[in-house]
Amino acid sequence: MNILAIDTSCDETSVAITNKQRILSNIIFSQVKLHQQFGGVFPSLAKREHLTKIQPIITLALKRAGLNWRQIQAIAVTFGPGLAPALEVGINTAKQLSQKYQLPLIPVDHLEGHIYSVFIQSQSNNPKRLIKFPLLALIVSGGHTQLVLMTQHLHYQILGQTLDDACGEAFDKAARLLGLGYPGGAIIERLAKTGDPTKYPLPIPMQHHPGLDFSYSGLKTAFKRLVYGLSEQEKNQNLSHLCAGFQQTIITSLILKLKLAIAKYQPKLLVIGGGVADNQMLRKQVRKEFKKQLPIYFPPLKRLSGDNAAMIGVVAHFKFQNGIVLKDPIKLDRLPRANLNYYLKNC
Ligand code: KG4
Ligand code: ZN
Repeated sequence: MNILAIDTSCDETSVAITNKQRILSNIIFSQVKLHQQFGGVFPSLAKREHLTKIQPIITLALKRAGLNWRQIQAIAVTFGPGLAPALEVGINTAKQLSQKYQLPLIPVDHLEGHIYSVFIQSQSNNPKRLIKFPLLALIVSGGHTQLVLMTQHLHYQILGQTLDDACGEAFDKAARLLGLGYPGGAIIERLAKTGDPTKYPLPIPMQHHPGLDFSYSGLKTAFKRLVYGLSEQEKNQNLSHLCAGFQQTIITSLILKLKLAIAKYQPKLLVIGGGVADNQMLRKQVRKEFKKQLPIYFPPLKRLSGDNAAMIGVVAHFKFQNGIVLKDPIKLDRLPRANLNYYLKNC
């Protein structure tokens, strides 16, 4: 079954065609250059860009997959969480297409997309990864930081989440403070490569907190205090050390909570998705720490860690198999603060 999937939850307009877990095409148009001048995503501008790009991207996705509308059997769309005006564009388009071509509409949560992104395959069915439950998922993106336990497909138990800033957001704020530009995660990672993470130690967030929640606003404040305490020259001469220290503190905080969750829930598989999952130092340290205990999957390609519609198509495949299809597609509405499991209960 070929699914045409749409994600317009933030600042990427993405349309993919997938078959089971396989990508037939996955077009991602990033608006990041447009939003750079604001140091973050400007919602009304995002909506305008999604509106102008969505139709040509749908046409391109079909063309790249070598398919026409008669060969598409379902539409999938992200209904939340995300920016309301941005989500609206994808949802309205999906509703129109589902009506026009009489196709079932499958609602997908953006965060379940990030979880299933590790199971996306190429046209030749690679990588072949066994899906085992219980599965522990860590989502680390610009808007979310969540630890989720799954005992079966599409059922999510949120074990912990950030109480304030998301992990990617913390990277972005630190980068802005250092005058490094937006989005900051990849820039910090690059500079950190030549830095000494022990030169400027920072407090590990939630270290003495027994639960599985995260928090990054205290780290942001501590980092701000540290940077403001340096002269301009000191700051510029030590950028790589500052980045390395900041990055290491975040990685240590994530590993700390993963350790607790793995000990408590004994999962058979660990998956990590979202933009921050692209961080190579995070991958290296997580693998080193847990590889003897359980298999660890990250998104198989860089472009699958960030926002993309292929991950939405892959979730939709499992939803369709489980009968999760909207009875009345026209009623689908955006849920900017959606939480995982919504459509399991409301379909
Ligand atoms: O998942 P994503 O593309 O969008 C959301 O759904 O939020 O995540 C974007 C976030 C940004 O905050 C960005 O700075 C961060 O992921 N990010 C990284 C790296 N690449 C992207 N953070 C740390 N290291 C990276 N290499
Ligand atoms: Zn995302």
